[in-house]
Amino acid sequence: MLTKIENLSEYFLAYEKSVANPETFWGRVANQFFWRKKWDKVVDYNFEKADVKWFENAKLNITENILERYLYTLGDKPAIIWEPNDPKEKGITLTYKQLFEKVCEFSNVLKKNGIEKGDRVIIYMPMIPEAAIAMLACARVGAVHSVVFAGFSSSALADRVNDCEAKMVLTSDGNFRGAKSIPVKEVVDEALEKCTTIEKVIVAQRTKTEVTMKAGRDLWWHEETAKVDTQHKAEEMDSEDMLFILYTSGSTGKPKGVVHTTGGYMVYTQYSFQNVFQYNSDDVYWCTADVGWITGHSYIVYGPLLSGATTIMFEGVPTYPDAGRFWEICDKYKVNQFYTAPTAIRALQAFGLDPVTPYKLDSLKVLGTVGEPINEEAWHWYHDHIGKGKCPIVDTWWQTETGGIMISPLAGLTPTKPAYATLPLPGIRPIIVDAEGKELKGNGVQGNLCINFPWPSMIRTTYGDHQRCIDTYFSTYKGMYFTGDGVKRDEDGYYRILGRVDDVINVSGHRMGTAEVENAINEHPLVVESAVVGYPHEIKGQGIYAYVICDTEGRTEASLKDEIKATVNKIIGPIAKPDKIQIVPGLPKTRSGKIMRRILRKVAENDTSSLGDTSTLLNPEVVDEIIKGAQ
Ligand code: PRX
Repeated sequence: MLTKIENLSEYFLAYEKSVANPETFWGRVANQFFWRKKWDKVVDYNFEKADVKWFENAKLNITENILERYLYTLGDKPAIIWEPNDPKEKGITLTYKQLFEKVCEFSNVLKKNGIEKGDRVIIYMPMIPEAAIAMLACARVGAVHSVVFAGFSSSALADRVNDCEAKMVLTSDGNFRGAKSIPVKEVVDEALEKCTTIEKVIVAQRTKTEVTMKAGRDLWWHEETAKVDTQHKAEEMDSEDMLFILYTSGSTGKPKGVVHTTGGYMVYTQYSFQNVFQYNSDDVYWCTADVGWITGHSYIVYGPLLSGATTIMFEGVPTYPDAGRFWEICDKYKVNQFYTAPTAIRALQAFGLDPVTPYKLDSLKVLGTVGEPINEEAWHWYHDHIGKGKCPIVDTWWQTETGGIMISPLAGLTPTKPAYATLPLPGIRPIIVDAEGKELKGNGVQGNLCINFPWPSMIRTTYGDHQRCIDTYFSTYKGMYFTGDGVKRDEDGYYRILGRVDDVINVSGHRMGTAEVENAINEHPLVVESAVVGYPHEIKGQGIYAYVICDTEGRTEASLKDEIKATVNKIIGPIAKPDKIQIVPGLPKTRSGKIMRRILRKVAENDTSSLGDTSTLLNPEVVDEIIKGAQ
């Protein structure tokens, strides 16, 4: 590839060029793709209106840049290697040619069942090849996919279906995860009781568990694909046509639909993939994320496939049948680049070295992390025991909203430092500001992380509510995109992400709004009020600590806490269940009635020595009670 950076000085040069002349820089990168019509202008933007356009008026279909593009050169190369949950079951390999056929076939199914350009399609599926095929088929017919992580509850699913007024749901009968078989179609059925826009549900068979098929609405994937052929001409899309919506949590209660568009997302995910991971044409790459998150979108599906890479999709969990499963898969497929979350590393580290030593791990060249800060201990364990001291670690910082990796070493080129995401990718201009928005220039500074120039894969809007996009990302600091993260730039100019500075917590690499969890807790009929904060958790990074005011009505505290957890499970899903619940007589509030979260955070962190002045609170007496009852 023309734009692959091969050494550190090339990186500095590319960075300089990208800043000096972004239009020439990105135009050159974009020229390597197949466009049905080229752009009139590379970039146009107005951050105050959150109005960003890349490759204006260009026409393309992103799947032509994967399928048609590699058919003749890489037709027989594995595109997707699917590894099932149970190691005894045979996996599936789809070559580029086979993937082409499957995507075309399913594109025809979508069309036959009434999907038109611009329609929203929800994908609520486990990690099976059909999930990737579904995403690409949506993109091919011009439909907007919105993948909902299959661990979300029916009520969270219904909210997302309703928010984007989806016309179709693609799902499966069930989901194998570790020793469990989890119902999936059943959750969809329950969700759809609260939805009116869904016309069809297409169900892929995975667990063969019995499901109810509603006549006129529900269809089987295998029956529908049997009725169509494998030829399909891709829809022509504008560069700024919506590619997908992905819901994510923010500091308000309601998840927002982050919108990504076609041209810029394509260019940036491919560019960042090949450069960060230093992918070479015969490499086997594995990202352990779920396609329900942005990491799965950009770095299991789009980035690797746009690069003609072999990408592994793993259905299962790291500890089934034992804690050596990841390493067994690395050896089995001779994985060269391995990308996972710090929480998985910490969880596996806790099992010691016995599950690691049976494996050679000698094919590994690059290790990656994403989603949360990595602590130095986990970094060293990963580096020493998985990478055997020879694999660079790329600590990649980015967000659902950024679409692609923003700050990260380029594997093997950028010297690394434990827990540092190091340097921005070409085209990315981070700036650090203080609380008033004043830029903190130079090195050795710490503040809030903003980006002050557009990049191709950035968020375009929040679905159905553009004002929310302006308010959330472009209003805190005028003329800049605000990330919500705190950051330090050290004396070498290296960036270290310090975590969220808003009411968002990061649990096992999953982003969670505290208000969202509070709203779910408050659904329990006996709960009067609640406040949720994060606290340091050895494995998860952050755990969820909930302070709850409630009537017990004769129940024991233990059973009440179980009920509250079950409520959260039902409203959001298991990932949002509080780790600790403390029943409290009141919440510390300012005289204007605002909850003093700072105090609650300190108590949850078990750091009550520096609570500050609590005498100005409306109810200072409650603080002692809270400290006494702390978990
Ligand atoms: O706080 C940062 C953290 O994850 C947030 C974004 O979460 P999400 O949109 O779910 O995307 C996760 C996968 C890209 C960020 O605001 N975060 C992400 N990567 C890192 C990180 N924190 C520290 N180091 C990272 N490498």
